[in-house]
Amino acid sequence: MLAELSPALIAEVKRAAKLLAAQSRICILTGAGISAESGIPTFRDKQTGLWENYGVEDLATPEAFMRDPELVWSWYQWRRQIVADKVPNPAHHALAQWQYHAQTSEQEVILITQNVDDLHEQAGSTVTHLHGHLWRNRCGQCEIPYQDQLRASYDGQDTVSFEDELITCPHCNGYIRPDIVWFGETLPAQAWETAEKAAAKCDVFISIGTSRLVYPAAGLSQLAKQSGAQLIEINPDPTPNTIVDITLAEKAGIILPLFIEEITSL
Ligand code: APR
Repeated sequence: MLAELSPALIAEVKRAAKLLAAQSRICILTGAGISAESGIPTFRDKQTGLWENYGVEDLATPEAFMRDPELVWSWYQWRRQIVADKVPNPAHHALAQWQYHAQTSEQEVILITQNVDDLHEQAGSTVTHLHGHLWRNRCGQCEIPYQDQLRASYDGQDTVSFEDELITCPHCNGYIRPDIVWFGETLPAQAWETAEKAAAKCDVFISIGTSRLVYPAAGLSQLAKQSGAQLIEINPDPTPNTIVDITLAEKAGIILPLFIEEITSL
């Protein structure tokens, strides 16, 4: 597969793998781009069909849910339908393999994601979610988790209902909402603490498939850099910035398997 890449990119992959093999604390931040090759559209992709006339302020803010809970709920039910049959791609599998390999080496590989899908878990990774979980619900009023809508399994026995109709909380009668961090909401405290600590103490910080536009997650790479880490970015359309040390401008599903092969063979 290396033969399909340009010589310059191959050299960069080898340089990155060498750097990683020599370091013990690795922090990885993934974004929507890592799930793109599984068929899940990224956020910067244009919304299609039914939803093309809606913006983030109509669909993913607490104000939008207050204003029009049916609309927001329908959008998430639609997204759940899109994600339901998607499976991890080679990038997810490669990261899981790396974490597995790290258990018997000196390395610590901490994986943080902005994604709300569960493809990292399906691949076998241990991952911290900064922006919540698509398959969980909670009450929009009293915050109590609403269990009935949890996806029960990954083996085709799913119990999720994709009904558009709003559900009310059995405790307070408030509307049930997805357990996702919307724009303007605070990140889950424990997840953020894990992410900040990992970024501040890592030797290498790898950002994969994120446009790094949405804070505070986008600030983790700066935190890592200020704390002395080297930065690697994997993105076919890299974000213009000056703090990255190694840019691998190719799809995560192509780069990561090669990368892991190199690291585990060094
Ligand atoms: N491999 C790697 N990167 C890819 C791939 C791929 N195969 N395909 C696309 N990308 C890159 C794009 O070039 C883009 O830079 O993934 C990035 C996706 O960017 P966004 O859609 O902005 O996703 P993300 O950075 O995760 O968004 C952050 O914004 O809408 C909110 O809460 C939501 O978690 C989300 C946050």
